[in-house]
Amino acid sequence: MVEAADLLVRTLGEGRIDSPLQGLLDRRGTTEHYVDEADRVLFDDTLAMVGERIGKPPSFEPSGPRRRIFFDPAKIRVGIVTCGGLCPGLNDVIRGLVLELTSHYGVSRIVGFRNGYRGLVARHGHDVIDLTPAGVQHVNEQGGTILGTSRGNQDPVEIVDCLDHLGVNILFVIGGDGSMRGAQRIAQEITARDRRIAVVGVPKTIDNDIPWIGHSFGFQTAFGKATESIRAAHTEAMAQPGGVGLVQLMGRHSGFIACYAALATNDADYVLIPEVPVDLGGFLPHLRQRVRERGHALVVVAEGAGQEYLAADGADASGNRLLGDFGIYLRGRVLSDFATAGQEINLKYIDPSYVIRSVPANPYDSVYCLRLAQAAVHAAMAGRTEMVVGSWRNRFVHVPIPLTVASRNQVDPGGDLWMSVLEATGQPTSFAVPDRAAA
Ligand code: F6P
Repeated sequence: MVEAADLLVRTLGEGRIDSPLQGLLDRRGTTEHYVDEADRVLFDDTLAMVGERIGKPPSFEPSGPRRRIFFDPAKIRVGIVTCGGLCPGLNDVIRGLVLELTSHYGVSRIVGFRNGYRGLVARHGHDVIDLTPAGVQHVNEQGGTILGTSRGNQDPVEIVDCLDHLGVNILFVIGGDGSMRGAQRIAQEITARDRRIAVVGVPKTIDNDIPWIGHSFGFQTAFGKATESIRAAHTEAMAQPGGVGLVQLMGRHSGFIACYAALATNDADYVLIPEVPVDLGGFLPHLRQRVRERGHALVVVAEGAGQEYLAADGADASGNRLLGDFGIYLRGRVLSDFATAGQEINLKYIDPSYVIRSVPANPYDSVYCLRLAQAAVHAAMAGRTEMVVGSWRNRFVHVPIPLTVASRNQVDPGGDLWMSVLEATGQPTSFAVPDRAAA
């Protein structure tokens, strides 16, 4: 259970410099939405939960500009790095950081590190890129990242050597859970050297698997793009006798993309996710029955589902377990099951794969990326460190990195999202033997 102490954000020191955003803050002070610097955003959202923790309810530090800041904008140098797999909105965040730093704080020295954490290690020989408002114009219209990216962490000692060498005072890390673990090690190395360098993360993942940040940027764009594949598979399935559409979507450990894309179209008969074990002994006859009754069926699978049927080994450079290809395996099992039963099938298999994450952010994600970037800049300028920005109950907040890497955000099989999926699809809660009524 998350306790009040888990939500305390580290700070490099007291803010002694008047913020250039004072004017904005004064106006804010006259509205009912005004938040005092000492205010906190409650972690729990029901009276019962808050009541149970009277006296010490856990709460987040709200994001936003502070009246006094820690860093003198005229004297600092800022670095930005993007790490891990692509995600819609990376360029929006880079541009948002650069514009907020330059236009509002007057920071003029901003560098981008190339190809993830490798760009911060001298022996990889990557030059840094100077980032200016003119240089980032229109980058938000492109997918990918103008800085390049890579998987895998690098030695924090070499990274902090590089920050020292370049005189970087603030490092913004845009990355997923593995990259945030790296950011934590960098912040620890900075502390060990007693330096005043802030490390602030903007969490990135289309899988939406980082906890306590509301949702991650790029997730909405990715599942939106995935709906195109689901629509195509549904159209194909409906057009032929024994039509079965099978769509595999990204989602290594968390099935949020599969759930949301399926709910957005509301045509899927089955959604299979990593969080809910798949019993093919029950699923296959259920599917045949559904096709017999309705003439077609649509199955949406998250790539991490059904791994219990596959013998995959090893890990990628980020430490993520390598997966077997369940979509292809399932296609084979469905085809042979229909063949054995002598039932006609026309199966169309679609895996949009990287198509859903290499696109530019949609307008919602663009707004979200910009606001996260603004929040990240305010936090870093105020001297916060070893934290990421997130949105909790529609409020932008500061989340300590140790908390975000301590667990994974997953679809709760007992929660209301999965309940909505079960309602929308009509699939049983389990395909295990007792539920094989339809077989
Ligand atoms: O972590 C996001 C993600 O999109 C996963 O859903 C997917 O399995 C993985 O990245 C694949 O990325 P890559 O092939 O770049 O390692």
